[in-house]
Amino acid sequence: MPGGTPVELIKERLDIVDFLRGYLILQPAGKNFKAICPFHKERTPSFMVSPDRQSWHCFGCALGGDAFAFLMRYENIEFGEALRVLAEKTGVELKRLNPTEYKLSGALYDVNTAAKDFWKKELSTNAVAKKYLEERKLAPNTIEHFEIGWAPPGPESLTLHLIKAGYSSEEIIQAGLAFRTDRGMVIDRFRSRVMFPIHNHFGKVAGFTGRILPGAVLSSGEEPAKYVNTPETPIFQKSKLLYGFWTTKNSIREAKSAFIVEGQMDCLMSWQAGVTNVVASSGTALTGEHLKTLRRVAEEVVFSFDNDEAGWAAGERAIDLAQVEDFHVKVVTLEGVKDPAEAAAADPEKLHAAVKNSQPVAMFYFEKYLKGVSDFSDREGLMRLRAVLRKIGNIASAVHRDFWFKELSRRTAIEERVLREEAEKVASAPLNTPAKEEEAQPRQVRSRLELLSEQILAFAAAKGDFSLAENCVEFFSPLYRRGFELLKTGKKTSGDPEVDSVLDGIFFRAEATSGEDFESLKGEIRKEFFKRRREALIRAVRLAESRGDEKGIESALKELQEIPNIS
Ligand code: UTP
Ligand code: MN
Repeated sequence: MPGGTPVELIKERLDIVDFLRGYLILQPAGKNFKAICPFHKERTPSFMVSPDRQSWHCFGCALGGDAFAFLMRYENIEFGEALRVLAEKTGVELKRLNPTEYKLSGALYDVNTAAKDFWKKELSTNAVAKKYLEERKLAPNTIEHFEIGWAPPGPESLTLHLIKAGYSSEEIIQAGLAFRTDRGMVIDRFRSRVMFPIHNHFGKVAGFTGRILPGAVLSSGEEPAKYVNTPETPIFQKSKLLYGFWTTKNSIREAKSAFIVEGQMDCLMSWQAGVTNVVASSGTALTGEHLKTLRRVAEEVVFSFDNDEAGWAAGERAIDLAQVEDFHVKVVTLEGVKDPAEAAAADPEKLHAAVKNSQPVAMFYFEKYLKGVSDFSDREGLMRLRAVLRKIGNIASAVHRDFWFKELSRRTAIEERVLREEAEKVASAPLNTPAKEEEAQPRQVRSRLELLSEQILAFAAAKGDFSLAENCVEFFSPLYRRGFELLKTGKKTSGDPEVDSVLDGIFFRAEATSGEDFESLKGEIRKEFFKRRREALIRAVRLAESRGDEKGIESALKELQEIPNIS
């Protein structure tokens, strides 16, 4: 069929090797490429890319698939979004064939873009707003690059403009740009505000935050909220979006480090000061999702917290989360200013230096908890010491932990051995629980049976003769059985991503296979199969026993006896 579906067209035009080069360092490996897997922690590459099959596969974490699967996982996005991104990249038209869901998100991006353009134009003619941005020391280039605008005071300025431009009030409301009053009127959400578009990680406008000018009062006499944000919409998820990331990610990747700040202004002023590896969480506290996104491009995060109790409390939570993701965590302390925006406005160099001289997180905790404390035997002193020990316990690297125990011992004049003993006592922090560790590992590694199935099929593939595997089929796990049926017919893909992932594994292994002993593999899989079968039957007997199911017990026992005795 000429043309084909958008997905087929995209795949035709997109070479997976070129595409992945944008994300990973690929090393040639025979006719394939290999890379360090971005989805699990490893030192030697087990992430394989096949130009032939246009797919990738990781032997470490058993993930794999095509360009779509990679992008969805890497950027933490849904299929519709990945389709949109890749369509744009390859110049494939989506309009006609797409399902309603991304027709909707397409419309939402369009209406947001139109709003952004409208507000930009409004800013260019509004002297008061321009003066405010000038006072805050935002340079024209920054304003242009981040597409800052001005929302005029009229209750329907934007809505009327958009309706004239052909958008429906439903679209405008769904994008969060306006809301319907009880009396059915459609009113702009953002009025008399400096507008900061929030671009998604690909640079599309997904939402906004708007800042009121200082001194503004509502007609009710109340003070308005300083910032108003777009509510959650299908394209605007605060827990995932990082402000600035669309334009700073290369810088972050290069530095392997991200400077994380709290507000839009902090982000913009840092960027302008030359700290270009900056991002902000926007209108929400930093989440694990934000950090997971950053972890793929950075090894280190540098935090700057507002210099107050609330800032510190939020900061400790953020640090804990970052440590779960195994970041090197550093902290910037800014003297005499409220936040990075103020520091940069006062002196860009000062901010630069502060970020450069950021302290390892343990140092930050020493300062915070131990400053001025010299007696650790009284209650207060011991409590503070324990707080620090708990924080050290959260550090993922044993080497770093060791370093900080030594440093703490030096500072407190308490023997290292005693500190470690005390640390064990307080080590009840819920951060290192198995559940969390599981979460950090993307997926269960294959079972031994699956591995053996793969090895046998890889051997057969390498020999170019799948009939070799024929008498092992009964032992294969179901997905491998399906894979085998396909391979026998000469096909190499199935269209079912789960089966394709299995096939990828087989082919990659076939290319790397180095004379495994086929006969012993066959023996192994048979043994493994019956071992698992026996375990399953024993569980079945127990279950039937607990239910008083005599028939069940009997049939399971009978089957158990029929299992050949192999050891
Ligand atoms: P801050 O109050 O620290 O704002 O809130 P800021 O960045 O210092 O603001 P400026 O410098 O006075 O302009 C930090 C972030 O919290 C969110 C915004 O994203 C803001 O950037 N916020 C704050 C809201 O969502 N609503 C608010 O009313 C205030
Ligand atoms: Mn500020």
